[in-house]
Amino acid sequence: MAKTLEEVVSEIKNRLDIVEVVSEQVILKKNGNHYWGLCPFHKEKTPSFSVNPQLGIYKCFGCGEGGDALSFIMKTKNMDFMDVIKDLAQKYGIEMPVTFKKSEGTKDLKEQMMQACEKAAMFYHDLLINHKSQEIKEATEYLTERSISREIIDKFMLGLAPKNYTTLYDVLKKDFSDEVLEKAGLILQTKEKKGYIDRFRGRIIIPIQNENGEFVAFGARALSSEQSPKYLNSADSLIYNKSRLLYGLYTAKDAIKAEDGVILMEGYFDVISAQAHGVENVVGVCGTALTSDHIKLLSRYTKSRKIYLSFDTDSAGQKATNRGATIIREAFSGLGNIKQFDESYISTSDDKYSCEIRVVCPPEGKDPDEFIRTVGAETFKQIVENAPLLIDFQINSILKHKKEYKTPQEKVQFVKDFIPVLLEINNEIIRSEYIKMVADAIGVNDKSLESEIRKAARLNSLQQVEDKEVKQIVTKNVSILEKTQKNLLSVFFVADSHFSFAQINEMIDNSYFSDETLINVKSTIDKLICTVNNVKELIEQLYTAYIENPEIQQVLTDLINIAETFTNLSPEDFQSVIEENINRINRCRWEDEKEKMRNLYKNADEDDTEALKIQMQLRDKINNRIKSEKIND
Ligand code: CTP
Ligand code: MN
Repeated sequence: MAKTLEEVVSEIKNRLDIVEVVSEQVILKKNGNHYWGLCPFHKEKTPSFSVNPQLGIYKCFGCGEGGDALSFIMKTKNMDFMDVIKDLAQKYGIEMPVTFKKSEGTKDLKEQMMQACEKAAMFYHDLLINHKSQEIKEATEYLTERSISREIIDKFMLGLAPKNYTTLYDVLKKDFSDEVLEKAGLILQTKEKKGYIDRFRGRIIIPIQNENGEFVAFGARALSSEQSPKYLNSADSLIYNKSRLLYGLYTAKDAIKAEDGVILMEGYFDVISAQAHGVENVVGVCGTALTSDHIKLLSRYTKSRKIYLSFDTDSAGQKATNRGATIIREAFSGLGNIKQFDESYISTSDDKYSCEIRVVCPPEGKDPDEFIRTVGAETFKQIVENAPLLIDFQINSILKHKKEYKTPQEKVQFVKDFIPVLLEINNEIIRSEYIKMVADAIGVNDKSLESEIRKAARLNSLQQVEDKEVKQIVTKNVSILEKTQKNLLSVFFVADSHFSFAQINEMIDNSYFSDETLINVKSTIDKLICTVNNVKELIEQLYTAYIENPEIQQVLTDLINIAETFTNLSPEDFQSVIEENINRINRCRWEDEKEKMRNLYKNADEDDTEALKIQMQLRDKINNRIKSEKIND
C-alpha cells in the first residue's frame, strides 16, 4: 500500500543521522556527548556550532541557528521541505505518495544530465577500445607512451573524443533533449546558433565521477602539444561543482578510510597513475584551486584528518602546496592545533590535533605521475611514509633560499618569511628550538629573532581579542521574563523527568506564557503530547510541525538545550525547577503591573478621586501579593 506523506517523512527521519548530515558541510569534532565545528551560518574562527546526536539536533551558540537534520539540509542547500523529502525518498528508495510524485522538474533534469554523462563516457570509451581508425591509433599510442595500460583505460573509463564535430551529438540526441545535453556540458551551440556540436573534440576523455560514482563531468586532454588548452574541462553545472568534487574519490574512498589518510594531487593523470599502481588513497582537484569544501569532503573519510599534499615539485607546485596548506588550516581552524611534531609517545588519540598535514616531495620528476612511472610506486610509497610535517617542509623550503640573503637588510627581509611559520608552533620548547635552529642557519642572533616573533604574536592575539568582541555582540540579549518562560517550557524536553507529559502539563498553566512564539509552541505541545510516547518523538514532531518556520525552530533548539541542563534531577528537584520559574514569572509580572499602576497614578494626579482609587488598588494588590508569597513560603 502506498505510504502517506507523514509515514515517508518519519521513515526518512529515522534514517537520517544528524552527525552524518552536518558533516557533509561542517567539519565536526567530538567533545563529550556533542560534536563541535565552525558554524556554516555565520563567519567565525572558533567553533560555537554544536550537534547533539542523542536528540538529532544542531545549534549555534554564536548566531542562534538551530534545528534538526531536515532543516539543516533545507537551510544549507536552500531547498524547500518537499524537495528535500523527495530527494531523500529517492536516495533511500522510499516510494512517495502518488500525489507527490515528481513530474517534470529540476530533479528530472539532473538525473537525465547524469545519464547523458554516463552514456557519453561509455561511448567515448567504447570508441577507444573497440574501434579502429587513424585517430584511435594515435590516441592509443599516446596512452601507451604515457604507460597507460588497457587495464588502466578500463578502470578509469578513459576514452577518445574524435575530431569530428557531431560524433557524440548524433548518438545521444536519440535519447536526450538538446537542453539536457547542453546543460550537461556535452554539446555547444554553434557560433551562428544554427545547431549543436560536440564540446570535446580530438581529445583523450577522462570521465569524472562524483563521490557516489555518478558521472557528472569530463576532463579532456589534448593529444598533441599544438592543441590548446592542454586540458579542456566541463564547466560547473547543476550536477558538477568543481570546488566541491575531488577526482578519484569514488575509487579512493575505502583506501582513504583504511589508511586514515589521503594524498592530494593536482592532475588527473597523477591520480590515475597513483591509483593504478597501488597507491590507492589518492584524489585530485579538477583543474581548480583547492577549496575548504574539498577539505570538508575529505574530512568525512579520514578520522584523524591526515592529509598529504603531493603537488608538482616545481615552484608553481610549491606555491600551490603553501596555498593548499593555508586552506586546510583554515578549514580546520578552531578544532585544535595542527600536528607539528611527532608526539605519539605521549598519546595516540586520533582527536588530539585538528589535522595533520604532510608534504610529499619526491626528489626527482616533475609531478607524481612522472615519478611513479619513472622511479616506481614502491619508492613513492616510501616517500609518502617519510613525508615531513608541514612545518618542517615550510622551514626547509624557506631555508633553501638562505644564500640569497646576505646583508643585514636582506636578513630582516628573510626573517619575515619565517615569522608566520614559527608563530604557528604551539609547543614552547619546540618553538624555541626551531628559533635557535633558524637563527643559526641564517646567521642572526636567536634572541633578536625570538623578540621579533613575540612582537608578531602580540599583534596576533590583539586580533583574536577583537574577534571575540564581535562574537559577544552577536549573542542576543534576552529579557529575564522571556528567559524564564523558556526555562519553564523547556521542562517538556527533559528526557528523564520521572513525570508524564500530562503530569507536567498539569503543573504548567498556559497563562504563564506571554511571548507569542512560546504560546504558539505550547499550544502545539498541548496537541502533540496526547499522541507521542517520549521526548525524542515530541522533538521530532515539533520540528516537523515548524519545518517551514526557521525562527520557531531556533526557539525549539533553545528549549531543548535548556532542558539538557535539567537532566539528572530527582523528581523533587525537577518540581522545584518548575516552581521556581513560575515564581519568577509571577514576580516579573508583578513588577510590570506595579510599574503600570505607578504610571497610572502619576498621570492621574489632576483628578484626585481617580488617583486615590488607583492608590487603593495598588495597595490592595500589594497586600494580596504579600499574603500569597507568605503562603507560598
Ligand atoms: N589543468 C587544466 N587546464 C590546463 C592545464 C592544467 O585544467 N590548461 C589542470 C588539469 O586538471 C591537470 C592539472 O591542472 O591535470 C595539472 O596541470 P599540469 O601539471 O599542467 O598537467 P599534468 O597533470 O602534468 O598533465 P600532463 O601530465 O597530461 O601533461
Ligand atoms: Mn603530468
